[in-house]
Formats: sequence, structure tokens, C-alpha cells
Amino acid sequence: TSLEETSLPLFFGWFVCHPFQENLRSIAVNFLKTLVSLEAFRKNITDFKEDAEKDIDLKEHFHDKGMLHCTTKFCEYGKADGAKEYAENQAVKESYGCVSQLTLSALFVTPRTLGATVTLTEEQLQLWPANAEEEGVSQGSSAHITLSYAEGVDPLQTGPDLLELVRLQQQGQEGETVQDSELGLLTYFGKGMWVLGLREPFLATACFSSFYG
Ligand code: A2P
Repeated sequence: TSLEETSLPLFFGWFVCHPFQENLRSIAVNFLKTLVSLEAFRKNITDFKEDAEKDIDLKEHFHDKGMLHCTTKFCEYGKADGAKEYAENQAVKESYGCVSQLTLSALFVTPRTLGATVTLTEEQLQLWPANAEEEGVSQGSSAHITLSYAEGVDPLQTGPDLLELVRLQQQGQEGETVQDSELGLLTYFGKGMWVLGLREPFLATACFSSFYG
């Protein structure tokens, strides 16, 4: 194996800069606090925990996540399809180490994951790989920052959870608006899927780089 091949990372992505990580974590904690206080959430609590009578500690349910980031390409040290091609892409090489702003437009929660939706700019989309899972939706629709997972959930679950929500919305499902607050519109899509569309998107400065683990 050549030097180049052995240099492929676990994944490429945008890594949220330090002060914004803290802000994002507190936004997530407040979001969970708001949810559990809502009658509509409590009514559907068995979505999260079958035997829950009326209470669930969402802070317990979701575990803290390390370094917050938006994965662009999961390379698995070169084992993943298209890893080498991605690393050699001109846009990827040129943007490596560059800082840009990520626009977080919504927060979502499912019984499995807690994440933030990232709306990519045209320039950021240049770093988004063609992705079979995004068939039928626009490229970049699954861009997200995982904020937390529930116990025993696969670390790759947030993308599929977000895509399910995107597909529901694309099919014209509007969900049930549960709260209209300063933060934004909170909508319930069934099966424990909640979305808070942020009135003011949260901008997080992030560095495009890679992680070796
Ligand atoms: P995500 O980007 O949705 O948070 P791990 O935590 O297993 O080391 O994975 C590192 C990152 O790569 C995580 O951010 C994770 O998900 C993403 N990831 C893990 N496995 C896969 C996979 N098979 N396909 C795509 N992304 C993955």
C-alpha cells in the first residue's frame, strides 16, 4: 500500500469550533427540557419508552456526544466505497483546513437520535459526496450534526432518521404543529419524531478537516 492509501481518515467533515460546541449543547439541552414539559409529548411518551407511565428523563435517555461535527464522507480508513476518490477531489483538497459557517436550520429528535439539520451553501455542497441514500431527495438533505444517541443505537442512525423526516415532508406531510414559540415551530410527525424549525438559524463556525480516531 502506498503512503497515500494508508493516510485515509475515518471520516471527513466540518468540526464545530469550540465556543459554538458549548452553545449547541445548551440549545440541545433546552430543546429536550421544552419537549418533556409539553402535554403533547407526554401523551406520546410510549414512542420513546414502552413502559413509561408519564415521565421520561430525556437527558438520561440521550448520552452526551463527543466532538460535534457534520460528517461529509465516512471513509473508514479507505474501506468505504469512494473514499480514495473523495480524498483526491480538488474541492476537498482546496477546502481542507478552511473555516466556514454551518447554518443549522432545525433540531430533530427521534427515539434513537437527537440532531441538528445543516443547510449547506452552494460552496459547502461541493464537498458533499454523491450519496445513494439521498435518492429522490436533494443532495445534501441528510447533512446533520449528531448531538446525541440513545443507548444501543448505531452511530450511523442520525442520517437515516433525518432522511425519513425529509421524505415525509417531501410527500406533503405537514405533521402536527404543537408549539409556536420564539425559537420556532415545533412539529410532531408521529412515531416519536419531532422537529423544531428554528426561526433564526443557528450559525456555527466550523473547520473542514478529517478525523483519524
Ligand atoms: P454521524 O455523522 O451521523 O454522526 P463513529 O462514531 O462510529 O466513530 O463514527 C464517526 C462518524 O462517522 C459519526 O459521526 C457517524 O455518524 C459517522 N458514521 C459512522 N459510521 C458510518 C457509516 N457506516 N456510514 C456513514 N457515516 C458513518
